[in-house]
Amino acid sequence: MTQIALLGLILFAYISPVLALNDAQQLVVESWRLVNQSYVDSYRFKEIDWKDLRQKALEKTIENSEQAYKAIEAMLLPLGDPYTKFLRPSDYSMLKSSTEGNVNGVGIQLGARSSDGHIVVIAPLEGSPAAEAGLISGTEIFEVDGESVDKLGLEATAARLRGQSGSQVVIKAILPMNSRNSSQAKSDHQNVTEFVLDRQQIDLHPVQSSILTANEQKIGYIQITQFSEGVSEQVIKALNEINKQNVEMLIVDLRNNSGGLVNAGLEIANQLLDKGTIVETVNRDGISETIQSSKNQLFTGPMITIVNRGTASAGEILAGALQDNNRSQLIGGQTFGKGLIQSLISLGDGSGLTVTVARYMTPQGRDIQKLGITPDYLLALPEPLNPGEDKDLWLSNSKILLELSKKSTNKIN
Ligand SMILES: *[C@@H]1O[C@H](CO)[C@@H](O)[C@H](O)[C@H]1NC(C)=O
Ligand SMILES: *[C@@H]1O[C@H](CO)[C@@H](O)[C@H](O)[C@H]1NC(C)=O
Ligand SMILES: *[C@@H]1O[C@H](CO)[C@@H](O)[C@H](O)[C@H]1NC(C)=O
Ligand SMILES: *[C@@H]1O[C@H](CO)[C@@H](O)[C@H](O)[C@H]1NC(C)=O
Ligand SMILES: *[C@@H]1O[C@H](CO)[C@@H](O)[C@H](O)[C@H]1NC(C)=O
Repeated sequence: MTQIALLGLILFAYISPVLALNDAQQLVVESWRLVNQSYVDSYRFKEIDWKDLRQKALEKTIENSEQAYKAIEAMLLPLGDPYTKFLRPSDYSMLKSSTEGNVNGVGIQLGARSSDGHIVVIAPLEGSPAAEAGLISGTEIFEVDGESVDKLGLEATAARLRGQSGSQVVIKAILPMNSRNSSQAKSDHQNVTEFVLDRQQIDLHPVQSSILTANEQKIGYIQITQFSEGVSEQVIKALNEINKQNVEMLIVDLRNNSGGLVNAGLEIANQLLDKGTIVETVNRDGISETIQSSKNQLFTGPMITIVNRGTASAGEILAGALQDNNRSQLIGGQTFGKGLIQSLISLGDGSGLTVTVARYMTPQGRDIQKLGITPDYLLALPEPLNPGEDKDLWLSNSKILLELSKKSTNKIN
């Protein structure tokens, strides 16, 4: 009698937390399960007592989303992987829309001015609320919604400008000399102008292409700032155009391309390589997969690829594939060093997870995690604020090298 009752009790005690899980607790359990089934390094689970972390997370009071979010963050922290992380709804939607090639904001790219470190507009995106209001390149930003940008810093200032489409943001700024008038702006002190902008969905235009000239030679220039949806199609279109115009040489600019969709990077490598290994991925069971490029190479001429510290992830997959196949020399700065691949997972309540699901190696078997890729030509020049423009010395150097490499191949042939 007693024994059965006891067993019943134990059973009850064991099952009850599962049965009684509220929505917030379920979010925690679901996050644990998703990471459990896909995280790249299952050995790590033993080291950090992964099962116990789930238990510990559920012992806390979890009755609302905020408590669930905190519990998930605390649970993932011991993994020690900055790329396996919880994304609050605003971060999740931002990442999701950036993989779709757009962002909700006002359409300006910000940077720190090299002379004094002040935050300035690098360029407004065409047709964006910022461009229409007259925020031009060189405009110095002072305040966003009443907060000083000195306190916020570059990243947080950029984050404050993003937000739901339709919402408003107030910017105080100083326009560069000789351009201090705009119908929508009202001046409060002498030079500081206040802008009230409506945020909207902004197309990031991650692919820009043009045809440059150097010593009467035509050079195709394709700048890819992110691998979002549709990017490989846009690059293919640009390459077709370059071929149509009989342009013999190509510069691919991957500066500050922090990655995005791995498939977009693979597809572009496929267009530039003539049969060869693009990358080797290794999943959590240690199973490696080699991805080969097909024989149909869209562009066959000499090329050079510009990289920098901001070139990461899928950007490094592409750069590594081009370098290891001797297809393109790299010029610029050491790349970031992200040799891990993540999945983006929606948790259904607006939040989400990124989970590292695989590692990758370049065709010659280099693991670039935390190391990055060293370009063939390291440039010690200051980074230009507006890449692709006239004063971009990295680009001028690339042109020179490309011409030289073309001459030397001609000689050999
Ligand atoms: C966690 O993952 C392991 C290994 O894949 C699996 O055997 C186990 O059933 C998973 N646990 C849960 C609760 O999903
Ligand atoms: C400034 O306003 C004047 C007229 O008030 C106009 O002629 C001029 O083009 C404006 N300049 C700019 C840069 O918008
Ligand atoms: C306004 O501009 C003038 C020169 O055009 C400059 O001397 C002055 O410091 C500026 N004032 C502010 C508040 O930035
Ligand atoms: C690239 O060139 C290096 C040095 O010439 C050579 O060792 C290597 O095998 C080449 N790689 C490919 C994929 O052709
Ligand atoms: C790359 O990003 C860094 C940091 O945001 C910035 O300082 C630099 O000017 C950018 N470089 C290019 C070429 O866009």
